[in-house]
Amino acid sequence: MSKRVAILGSTGSIGCSTLDVIRHLGSPYKASALGAHRQVEKLAAQVKEFSPAAVALADESRAEDLRRLLGHGGPKIFLGESGMVDLARHPDVDVVVAAVVGAAGLPAALATIRAGKKLALANKEALVVAGSLLIPEARRRGVPLLPVDSEHSAIFQAMACGRSRDVRRVILTASGGPFRTTPLKSIYNATPADALNHPTWRMGGKITIDSATMFNKALELIEACWLFDLRPDQIQIVIHPESIIHSMVEFIDGSVIAQLSPPDMRTPIQYALTYPDRADGCSRRMDWTQVQALHFEPPDFERFPALKLAYQVAEAGGTSGAVLNAANEAAVAAFMAGKIPFGEICRVVELTISQHRIQTNPGLDDLLEADRWARQCAETCIASGAGAASAPLA
Ligand SMILES: NC(=O)c1ccc[n+]([C@@H]2O[C@H](COP(=O)([O-])OP(=O)(O)OC[C@H]3O[C@@H](n4cnc5c(N)ncnc54)[C@H](OP(=O)(O)O)[C@@H]3O)[C@@H](O)[C@H]2O)c1
Repeated sequence: MSKRVAILGSTGSIGCSTLDVIRHLGSPYKASALGAHRQVEKLAAQVKEFSPAAVALADESRAEDLRRLLGHGGPKIFLGESGMVDLARHPDVDVVVAAVVGAAGLPAALATIRAGKKLALANKEALVVAGSLLIPEARRRGVPLLPVDSEHSAIFQAMACGRSRDVRRVILTASGGPFRTTPLKSIYNATPADALNHPTWRMGGKITIDSATMFNKALELIEACWLFDLRPDQIQIVIHPESIIHSMVEFIDGSVIAQLSPPDMRTPIQYALTYPDRADGCSRRMDWTQVQALHFEPPDFERFPALKLAYQVAEAGGTSGAVLNAANEAAVAAFMAGKIPFGEICRVVELTISQHRIQTNPGLDDLLEADRWARQCAETCIASGAGAASAPLA
């Protein structure tokens, strides 16, 4: 049974929520491997509580600190970029929760599938970059790929109510983030503190900024196309500020199936771990007598140009997902470092995409090269005031 869990990104928001779920589920669920980037104190505390067989630390410069904190007789330690891959392949691991942020999580997601292990995927960037590799590989090997993203978990559950050929469309809900109603002129110079102030979800920094630009929804649209074999025009994005309906599936007879729960990532994480079973949940239950109203509105494509880009990129395919993702990662990092205003994030991504020559049917090396090129192009863009990017074309 798939109960020995590796958590790649255990020190992050999804990682900690996964450990909460494991605490709640108890035996036979076990956190048998934990991986982090550089938060060694947090990782060491997790090791103390969960006694995993192995840990990974991506940032080798902190290895000595980790060794000192763990002392003798602790878990096996894997270091460097390949550490997460080592955890995914570890013999004491049955299921991998991929909760690393960004394209850095791709090699371990791929390694999990190649090792024939169940993959609970939070790391949406891996699918945006390399859905064209991950999905066929998972199908070929019969590896279960369980979505952790709340929207995709909702779609996955709703899809089970009919046949995929009878799906007319998917309604992908979005909170709208902190700037849904902010006057446009104030958004351009929004500070990191403003952008990190999400109205309904508490999440890691990068995804929270992505929610403010709505690049998170852009990534999710592409993720949904891969996971559920949908055309982009079969996905409608709808703003739902309460974040209670996590998404819906409309079948050809007009029936719409939705999944609802409070905004708490422990619910979809637990479902990914226990699937196809269900277990008592550890999050708050909805009190339907207290829900005054659920609101829906169309997204504002002018306010959130990332959404337009998402449809274009999902349609174009090839290396364009890798380029959108890498440019966005670079732009978000630049915004957080105070190098560009919030309003330039999308422009950096647009400029990078506009300079990219899409390669169709890319292999892994092509995707990694597109990622490298896009980061360089975006950096050039950022350095020149997000004006004229001049990196060589990939
Ligand atoms: N948070 C949510 O509610 C939520 C919901 C749906 C989907 N997701 C997706 O889940 C993923 C994780 O999000 P999060 O919010 O949990 O992020 P987070 O809080 O920033 O945590 C990221 C985790 O990844 C590790 N990490 C960062 N860079 C790494 C690298 N280069 N190599 C290896 N590990 C690295 C971090 O380690 P350190 O702590 O040591 O730096 C941390 O454990 C993202 O893809 C996000 O889009 C998140």
